[in-house]
Amino acid sequence: GRALSDAAASTGRFAGTAVAADRLDDPTYARIAATQFSSITPENAMKWESVEPERGDFNWTDADRIADFADANEQDLYGHVLVWHSQLPAWLNEGDFSPSDIRTIMTDHIATVAGRYKGRVDRWDVVNEAFNEDGTFRETIFHNAMGEDYIAEAFRAAHRADPDAKLFINDYNTDGLGPKSDATYRLAKKLLAEGVPIHGVGVQGHLVLGQQPEDMKANLQRFADLGLDVVVTELDIRMELPVTRKKLLRQAVEYKAVTDACTAVARCEGITVWGFSDADSWVPGWFEGEGAACPYDEEYKPKPAYYAMKLAY
Ligand code: XIL
Repeated sequence: GRALSDAAASTGRFAGTAVAADRLDDPTYARIAATQFSSITPENAMKWESVEPERGDFNWTDADRIADFADANEQDLYGHVLVWHSQLPAWLNEGDFSPSDIRTIMTDHIATVAGRYKGRVDRWDVVNEAFNEDGTFRETIFHNAMGEDYIAEAFRAAHRADPDAKLFINDYNTDGLGPKSDATYRLAKKLLAEGVPIHGVGVQGHLVLGQQPEDMKANLQRFADLGLDVVVTELDIRMELPVTRKKLLRQAVEYKAVTDACTAVARCEGITVWGFSDADSWVPGWFEGEGAACPYDEEYKPKPAYYAMKLAY
C-alpha cells in the first residue's frame, strides 16, 4: 500500500521518524525508515555528548551516517538538538567554567554543529526543554550563566551558522494549553518582537494513553497565529503493559486525534514519531511498566495506530 509519507504529503505535510544510527544496519529497520517516512531526526546522534564527548574531540560518525541516510532517501533532516540541559558531556557538566566561558562554549558548539550540516538540515531544535512545568525557566548551566538571554543568543548563533535552516524551540507537556505552553507562547512572542530568528515551535508529543491533551489544535493554532510553523516532534503514546487489543484500538484513536490536530492547522508542517517500532522505543527503558508506544509493533508490523494516522491525513 501507499506509504505513511505519501498520505502526509497529500496534505502537504511530512511524516517523520527518529532514527538510531546503529539500527540502520538492520535491513528491515532501514527499509521502513527509508520508505515510510519523509523526515528523519537523529534520536541521539547529534546530541552534545554524542558529537563532542571530550572537549574539542568531535565524533561525527553517527550523525553523518544519519544525515547521509536522509540525503540518499531524499528525506528532510530534522536536527536535534543544539542546546539542552540533558545528555551533555561530563567535561561540560562537571567543568569549572565562568559565565562568559559558558557563553563562548555554547555559541562555539552551535557554530560547529550547525555549521557542519549547513544547507542539509531543514529544521533544527535550537533550544530544548527550556521550561519547568509551572512555566518558569529551567535552571541549566546555560540559564545560570546567561539568564533567559541564552535562548536568543542560541537562535542567533544557529542562524549565523545555517541561515536556511528553520529554527525551532521544542518541549514536552506543551502539546495542549497549560502553564508550560503559555510560557513557550510568551517567549516565542517576545523573541519575534525582538527580531530573533525563530521560525517554529515543536511540541514533543510524549503522550500517555487515556490522557490525551485538551485543546491541542487550539494550542498549535495560537503559535501559528504568531507567524510560526509548528511540528509534533517526538510523538509516542505509551500504555501500561501488558498490551491488549482494546488498548491498541484506543491508541489508534489517539494517534488519529494528534494527526487531526496537525492537519487542522495550516502551519503544522508534520509529525515525527519518536522511533517507529516498539522494538526500539525509549519508553520501556524510561517509564517502568509502560511501553508499546509506537505505530509499529516489536515485529515491525504496523499497528492500528499506523493505519489510523495514515487514514487521518
Ligand atoms: C531520548 C532518547 O530516545 C533515548 O535513547 C535517550 O537515552 C534519552 O533521550 N525528549 C527529547 C529526546 O528531546 O531527545 C529524548 O530522547 C526523549 C525526550
